[in-house]
Amino acid sequence: PKEKGWLTEYLFQYQGFWLSPGAVKATMLVQHYFRAQPTDIFAATPPKSGTTWLRALIFATMNRTQFELSTHPLLTTNPHGCFPYLETFICEDGSISNLDTFPCPRLFSTHIPYSLLPAESMTGVSGCTFVYLCRNPKDVLVSKWIFININKSRHKQLPALSLEEAFELFCQGTSHYGSFWEHVLGYWKASLENPKKILFLKYEDLKNEPLVYVKRLAEFLGKPFTPEEERNGDVEEIVRLCSFENLSSLEINKHGEHRFNSEYVVNNRDFFRKGQVGDWKNYLTDEMVKRIDQITEEKLYGSGLRFGA
Ligand code: A3P
Repeated sequence: PKEKGWLTEYLFQYQGFWLSPGAVKATMLVQHYFRAQPTDIFAATPPKSGTTWLRALIFATMNRTQFELSTHPLLTTNPHGCFPYLETFICEDGSISNLDTFPCPRLFSTHIPYSLLPAESMTGVSGCTFVYLCRNPKDVLVSKWIFININKSRHKQLPALSLEEAFELFCQGTSHYGSFWEHVLGYWKASLENPKKILFLKYEDLKNEPLVYVKRLAEFLGKPFTPEEERNGDVEEIVRLCSFENLSSLEINKHGEHRFNSEYVVNNRDFFRKGQVGDWKNYLTDEMVKRIDQITEEKLYGSGLRFGA
């Protein structure tokens, strides 16, 4: 089945998830040709859930001994340029073999749902490591609706998608990389079964207690902060470097652009909108809130996973 919704392109249902044509191709390539290494680290997210932030945090944490703060790559490179997005990278000619030459541990970002990743090489006990970041679905919806409209007008001068249309598509699960709830549940259940391989994080928790979660992230990635690093304020430094306020104020993120592939280019400033918890309150009607909360409750029932208001 196919569905024309958010953009001009159709989304196709592939193995139970709605994917753009590019994402179908990328997922098939990953399933059949990607040579995963057990040391690979993935920043996995549903779209518009804090991917930019997570990428920055993983990059800064993993490479913290290599760079001085004053010349840190994140000051001059958008977080999306710091390590590859698996789906777009794997679709470029010849890049599958190029990936083998990347230094270990390789860092990647992906939106591919957990159950679509190849079980023998990527998921499971001897597979790769995943840090999953998700977010309250109401904030994801608003963030996605605004982002899509910016890109619609930039790329195709298309009329904007109304919030009502976006809401319907989102609630039906007709969204890039599939239903938000299915995406989250896939990684959530896997993280319960395999906590050493999947760290499951929520945007709201990271916002509330960034120091706690950056320390947890470092430990999980096998690079715990030493007592000396903690005394020196290195955790605080990473939190500050990767904060919305800092990244969004940098020249590169105010004026630069990021080219995912030859067709898909995003102004860096569009990765940074408000970076707040609960901005949905400024957009969604009471009726919308009631419906989406009900869907969330039904879908997550019995899973042990909850999102705050
Ligand atoms: P809003 O649209 O609610 O502001 P993604 O990176 O997955 O595309 O998600 C984008 C959302 O993350 C946007 O949310 C964006 O503002 C927010 N964001 C980007 N960088 C951030 C950061 N460093 N800290 C917190 N939120 C950030």
